[in-house]
Parts: sequence; C-alpha cells; structure tokens
Amino acid sequence: MSDQTTKLSGPDLTQAIELSTIPDGTMFLGHAHGEPVLLARRGDEVFAIGAICTHYGAPLEQGLLVGDSVRCPWHHACFSLRTGAALRAPALDPVSRWRVEAVRDVARQFTPVDEPVGAVFVREKLKPWERQPQPPRVGLPKSVIIVGGGAAGNAAAEALRQEGYTGDLMMLSADETLPCDRPNLSKDYLAGAASDASNLLRPAEFYTQHDIDLKLGTRVAAIDTAGRRVQFADGGHHDYDALLLATGAEPVRLDIPGADLPHVRYLRTLADSRTLVAKALVAKRVVVIGASFIGLEVAASLRARNIDVQVVGTETTLMEKVLGREVGDYLRSLHEKHGVTFHLGTTATAIDDDAVTLENGERLPADLVVIGIGVRPTISLAQQAGLAMDRGITVNEYLETSAPGIFAAGDIARWPDRLSGERVRVEHWVVAERQGQTAARNMLGQRERFDCVPFFWTNQYDFGLRYVGHAERWDEAEITGSLEARNCTVTYRLGGRELAKAFVHRDLDSLRAELEFEQRIASGEINAQGSSSHSEERG
Ligand SMILES: Cc1cc2nc3c(=O)[nH]c(=O)nc-3n(C[C@H](O)[C@H](O)[C@H](O)COP(=O)(O)OP(=O)(O)OC[C@H]3O[C@@H](n4cnc5c(N)ncnc54)[C@H](O)[C@@H]3O)c2cc1C
Ligand code: FES
Repeated sequence: MSDQTTKLSGPDLTQAIELSTIPDGTMFLGHAHGEPVLLARRGDEVFAIGAICTHYGAPLEQGLLVGDSVRCPWHHACFSLRTGAALRAPALDPVSRWRVEAVRDVARQFTPVDEPVGAVFVREKLKPWERQPQPPRVGLPKSVIIVGGGAAGNAAAEALRQEGYTGDLMMLSADETLPCDRPNLSKDYLAGAASDASNLLRPAEFYTQHDIDLKLGTRVAAIDTAGRRVQFADGGHHDYDALLLATGAEPVRLDIPGADLPHVRYLRTLADSRTLVAKALVAKRVVVIGASFIGLEVAASLRARNIDVQVVGTETTLMEKVLGREVGDYLRSLHEKHGVTFHLGTTATAIDDDAVTLENGERLPADLVVIGIGVRPTISLAQQAGLAMDRGITVNEYLETSAPGIFAAGDIARWPDRLSGERVRVEHWVVAERQGQTAARNMLGQRERFDCVPFFWTNQYDFGLRYVGHAERWDEAEITGSLEARNCTVTYRLGGRELAKAFVHRDLDSLRAELEFEQRIASGEINAQGSSSHSEERG
C-alpha cells in the first residue's frame, strides 16, 4: 500500500554493531544490502526486520516495541520481530527479515554463542515467513461465504487463507470495484495525491491466487438461516457452512428538493470517489453539506485542488460531540486558514443547478455538491434473516450473531467492548479489519475473543489526529500540551473514568495509550459487560 521510497540512513548494519549500543528494549534504524532495516533488541536476542510499514510506509523506528513485536506509529499495525508477519491490521503484508549473527569476539567471529555476545551483524535476507501447514482438522466449515468486500470482508478472506483454510471461500460485494482503501477516498485519492491502483487493497490476481471466489457487483438479497443458503438479487443462490456478514454502512440520504440532481454526490465507494475526482477536475465552487469527518476531509482534499469550498453543518462547533469544543474550534480555524467558508447552525433546504439554498434563503453558488451527513449500518439482510439486532447486529465477544454459523464484523456489528464496559458499534477502518480477522479465526474454531481497543484517525491538510478508546459520552475533555502547536493529548473522561484519548501529532503517545488500555482490559480493571448500547459514528 505504500508508494513511499526511503533514503537510507543510520549505520550499515552489515558491519559490526556493538551490542552495548543497543540497550535491551530499544530499536534503531540502519540499513543492509541497500534496504532500510530496523534493528531491535529483546534480552539477548537481536532482530532485523524491514523498517517501513507495509500499510502507508511509516517509519517503524518511531513506533513502540511490545514484547517481540513492533507497533506502527501511524495507524497501529503490528509486526512480529521474529517473522516480520503483520500481526494486526491495517497492515496486511509482512515486512522483510534478515538473519542476525551474534558474535562474542568480533575478531574471531564464532557463532552460535552461549554467553552474552559482543556484536551483531545483519547477514542475508531470509525467505518470507510462511505459516507451517496445519494437520487437517475435523469440524471446519466446508464452505464459507463472506457478504461484503470492504475492510472486514477482505481482511476475513485473507485471514482464512493465512490460517490454512482450504475449503470453498466466496466473497460477495455489491461494489463494482475491487476492495479498496476506503479511508483514502476522502483524503489523498480525492486530493489527487494517490493513484487509482494504489487505492486497491489487492490486485485482481490476488484473489485468484488465493482461491477466493470474489464476485463483484453481486448483491445478496436474502439469507435462509435454516437452510444455510444466501439468495442473490439476480436470482442465483449459494449454500454455506459458515457465513460472515460484513455489509458496512451506507450514506444517509438528504431529502430536500434537488438532492437527486447529477452534480449532487455522496462518498462511500471507490466509484463515488472516482466520480468526484472527475467532477473536481472541472468544478470551481463546491458546497459540502455535513461537517463531520468525511465532510471535513472532502473539504481539505478539494482545497488541495484549489477549488472554492463552503461547508454547511447543523452543529455550531465542529465535531464537538466526539472531540470537544477546543478541538472543534481549532479545526474550524484550520480550515478557514485554508480558505474554507463555514455556514454552521443551519441546513440546506434546496439544491438547484447552480446553488444550494440555506434555511435563511441565502444561496451558495455550487457546481458540485457533496453530501456527508452520516451513515447507517447496512443491516436489512440481518433483519430479514431474523438475527438479534440492537441498532446494528448484536454479536458476542467471538463476533457470533444469534444464528448458528453466522458471524458479523465491521460497521454493522455491536460487540461487548470490555474497555467501555458497554456494547458498542463503531465505524473505524482498523476495527473493521481486525474484527474480520478475528471472525475468520473463530469460523475455524479458534474461540478468539475480540478485545481490540478501538482506534481511528483523521488527516486534514497537514493536521493528523489519532483517537484511541471509545467515549460515546464524556463530561470532561482535558487537554495537555498545545493544540496551536499541534502537540497535545486530549483525555476524555466520564465521572472521572478515562474512556478515550485523542492525540495531535503525538504518535508514540497514542501507541502507549493503546497499550495501557489493553493492559487495563487484561488485568480485569475494566471488565463490566454493560447492557446499555451506544454507537460512535465516524462517518
Ligand atoms: C470516505 C471515507 C473515509 C473514511 N476514513 C476513515 C478514516 O480515516 N479512519 C477510519 O478509521 N475510518 C474511516 N472510514 C470508515 C471506514 O472506511 C469504515 O469503518 C470501514 O470501511 C468499515 O468496513 P466494513 O467492512 O464494515 O464496511 P465497508 O468497507 O463499507 O464494506 C461493505 C461491503 O459490503 C458490501 N455490501 C453491502 N450490502 C451488500 C449486499 N446486500 N450484498 C453484497 N454486498 C454488500 C459493499 O458493497 C461493500 O463491499 C472512512 C469511510 C469513508 C466512506
Ligand atoms: S502506516 Fe503503518 S499502520 Fe498505517
């Protein structure tokens, strides 16, 4: 997924590196055989793996070592130091690994050693790590169907094959395009800074090579839970032993006169973003209706194309409910500095060929209108199938729905979150991918609890924010550091209890916060499985 090429820096690791210069629990960047390499020490062991995250190319030396893994500073992927394997989404591909030779006496260079060594050398690159073939297991599903070709569906299909599943695997997507990097649709892709090809999670051949029967433009119309069969909208059907529902969310439609005009667009799919890009090439004045994350990211990306942008929102402070007043005010001034005009505390009442009319009658000239007023989980299939629902599909800690053999993941799934002690449903890319991976392993009988700490990010211009945890409601947002200086942490508490943290350009701190929340979950400090239901909607 990375387009980035990196200049080599740091020492040449093929030359002797004295062990005393690598304290236990540290890592640093060097290079070997022309590639950037991360050297990390854990006790007496020293590891050498690729230094660039396979997601978007972040420098892993700025990340966090946790056990024998390293976590990426940008979007919290995790790689094994031993194998290079991508242990956690959003990275889907491993990093390279090199053999490290430990030498007690550099002059004599003997190995292996049975006492503390004096220096290490990075030697040849090792073959990519591959999972050992597993003995055939009984009780595995003969066929798996995944409904949805987005974050959760794609990650589940990949995980099934990585786990050695050899049965029939079909992935159905109503989208006409291959699974895409949805978060980028409103960011670099829309701004013109990312290519079409780089926006696909995988090329078409990937699915053929991994024997994933991907059917695009194929909508599932019904599920027969008793007969374990899915019915396609075009009349066909297919039987399953195990089913994953990963149908995501769809934009809320604006019901005002003119909302169906051809220059009025929504943004969810790659096709939507391609249309916006084509229209942005000729548009001069855009009105964005909706001032949430997607609306603001769209505004920033269109400003990068030097298009005049006005944003209309019902709220008076941007993102106040999620991020708090101070961050909201900062975001507003950030956008205004980049030339965006806001019309807040109001709504659009009509759209015509060349303008959007506001409640007070004001007309905002527009040759392109983008609507981003939130999304709704796509749950009609689950409702029709009679699954237990709770403003989303109710799943247990293993992501199982109320119907045997049916799992749910991603934007549609409401799961028991041990961090908040509540059942939550979120709309975050990383959560959807990780749920897809967990659901896949549970389809294979692994009984893995979904216990990830929710995480999302947003980028607008050169401003980046990472959010860890989940705070649907909070009564205190404490800022440490300086928003103006773009170096701060916002801690969200309810009744004094810390629920979530947002980080502005403090990536390492955001990784530490994720780890702290994980440790609190593991220690049982936070383990209430509350019955109340909340959702946090990013889109
Ligand atoms: C423009 C944009 C920017 C975003 N930016 C960020 C971000 O910066 N950070 C972040 O954390 N999150 C972001 N998100 C949210 C994130 O993309 C979603 O949370 C994530 O995609 C959810 O994954 P999913 O698998 O549940 O659903 P999706 O990725 O939406 O996939 C749903 C799939 O289901 C298919 N489908 C639906 N109904 C049917 C049916 N009946 N039959 C067959 N197939 C069906 C669809 O065609 C699609 O393939 C963004 C979302 C958008 C739209
Ligand atoms: S760049 Fe590493 S997780 Fe995104």
